[in-house]
Amino acid sequence: MAQPSSETRFLHAIEMGLGAWQWGDRVFWQYGHGYGEAEVQQAFLASLNEGIRFVDTAEIYGNGRSERLLGQFLKETDQPVLIATKYLPFPWRFGKGSLLRALKGSLARLGVESVDLYQIHWPSPLVSIDTMMEGLAQCVKSELTRTVGVSNFSQSQMLAAYSALARHNVPLASNQVHYSLLHRAVEKDGTLARCQELGIRLIAHSPLEMGLLTGKYSADSPPPGARSRNYTNLLPKIEPLLKLMTEIGQDHGGKSNSQVALNWVICKGALPIPGAKNAEQVQQNAGGLGWKLTDEEIARLDETSESVLE
Ligand SMILES: NC(=O)c1ccc[n+]([C@@H]2O[C@H](COP(=O)([O-])OP(=O)(O)OC[C@H]3O[C@@H](n4cnc5c(N)ncnc54)[C@H](OP(=O)(O)O)[C@@H]3O)[C@@H](O)[C@H]2O)c1
Repeated sequence: MAQPSSETRFLHAIEMGLGAWQWGDRVFWQYGHGYGEAEVQQAFLASLNEGIRFVDTAEIYGNGRSERLLGQFLKETDQPVLIATKYLPFPWRFGKGSLLRALKGSLARLGVESVDLYQIHWPSPLVSIDTMMEGLAQCVKSELTRTVGVSNFSQSQMLAAYSALARHNVPLASNQVHYSLLHRAVEKDGTLARCQELGIRLIAHSPLEMGLLTGKYSADSPPPGARSRNYTNLLPKIEPLLKLMTEIGQDHGGKSNSQVALNWVICKGALPIPGAKNAEQVQQNAGGLGWKLTDEEIARLDETSESVLE
């Protein structure tokens, strides 16, 4: 196991973060329907109160609205916040210089001089990993970001990014990927193990499987919008897993399904960043910290999730 480098060590000390895709996104999350600016500001404040200070956003979330909202909230607090944002390799963005330009745009919306983690949102078939990593290295050298990472990179793409950055003397801090009890590809294909081996923090996005693992949705009561289409096949199968999560939660003094789901991700050695629309969701998710599932409970959850995903 490699120790994380001194620059990226802070990420390994963070147990949970807060996802901000929901902030300002009208298309997927229906921002403006049932929740809005006041609610997401309360979510932000509740998160700081709970000691969760690592916020994940992206230039694409709400077309910049998520970064702008976060920037607005940052102005109204004097508490330290760690900011992660992302670069989207749109097809018209070719050269390595486009990363630095995009990061400057994010910094302007966030109203800060630098961020803690700048990530490539998706790999691109049009821009080589070497070129993107050269751009990321330039962002570190310009001191506009403390560390850099990738997102949705396969194991081989991640290794290529790791090596390309190493040639610039920059460590790869993280790979942000889909990881939950209902989406375990990174566990199966060795990406998680490889991250741990190399000191790369695996940041788990959608750790509640977009709300499915909270237990509030079922085939009869699907989530609104695009989520119901995405999960048509999965929803009718998740009941046994939800039941087991509730049972295990009871044995820990009444932990909710969300708290069990997040604790499972943490026990696997990843950093979950649950998205939240309001303070209540943040407070509930924060209860995923401060306790541990037993090895036997993890094994039972693994087994039941396997049979659901078969
Ligand atoms: N890099 C990438 O490509 C990528 C992709 C996806 C996400 N992300 C990042 O990861 C973060 C989290 O992923 P995600 O937002 O996709 O999914 P998630 O965290 O699995 O689910 C978030 C949703 O679940 C519901 N929820 C959250 N906490 C709850 C609670 N305690 N009780 C009941 N419902 C609760 C809320 O939606 P409802 O109330 O509407 O059900 C919330 O919007 C995002 O915000 C974003 O920062 C990154």
